[in-house]
Amino acid sequence: MNIKVIFIICLILIGCSFLFLKQNKGGISMAEAGTNHKVLVAYFSRTGEQYGVGNIKEGNTAIVAKIIAEKTNGDLFEIKVAQDNYPKSYNELTEYAKKEMQQNARPEIVGKVENFSDYDTIFIGYPVWWGDKPMPVYTFIDNYDFNDKTIVPFATHEGSGFCGTQGMDKLGAKILKGLGMYGHVAQKDKPQADKIVSGWLKEIGY
Ligand SMILES: Cc1cc2nc3c(=O)[nH]c(=O)nc-3n(C[C@H](O)[C@H](O)[C@H](O)COP(=O)(O)O)c2cc1C
Repeated sequence: MNIKVIFIICLILIGCSFLFLKQNKGGISMAEAGTNHKVLVAYFSRTGEQYGVGNIKEGNTAIVAKIIAEKTNGDLFEIKVAQDNYPKSYNELTEYAKKEMQQNARPEIVGKVENFSDYDTIFIGYPVWWGDKPMPVYTFIDNYDFNDKTIVPFATHEGSGFCGTQGMDKLGAKILKGLGMYGHVAQKDKPQADKIVSGWLKEIGY
């Protein structure tokens, strides 16, 4: 074997090692998402009359939350208010929500996340309400210690796009890129919603 052939073999071996390391890196990320990372998917969502979808039995954000939980092997927690006075009519709900925001209210939440400290990644989902998150989501955030955790926000909306992360940057948590999805897509086109969630999860390392 002359020196030129040995050189070419070495180059091929180095190339193969790089390829192996690259593929393996992706694999580790998936494994971490499914097994090593304990994932919580907390969400707030409303049924009743919603914009562009009529009277719904399952909230738009709830649908997205369930897709995420399934794909990340996460536990679901629905953020529900203790006294549910939210109107079922869309227009009345918008007025009610506006007042709640103006008062900077913290509606009480029912239930508690068991063993919250065990979770290292918390997806937080909500419908965009007046360009922000609904006030019960603020209550949820106030109730737990997010220091050193990873927060992954997601929202459904009808035109504003993803928003509502106000205040999350002060929690001492790492915040990953959020997802915004049209509510009517989640409600009416589940294959598309599934595809959007998969693409986003991949982008953020799951
Ligand atoms: C009180 C209220 C305020 C809303 N404000 C906005 C908004 O600012 N921007 C937007 O794009 N959609 C807004 N929407 C539409 C919702 O974000 C959208 O319909 C969402 O998918 C509802 O999710 P849900 O079924 O999980 O509650 C608002 C809806 C309500 C009820």
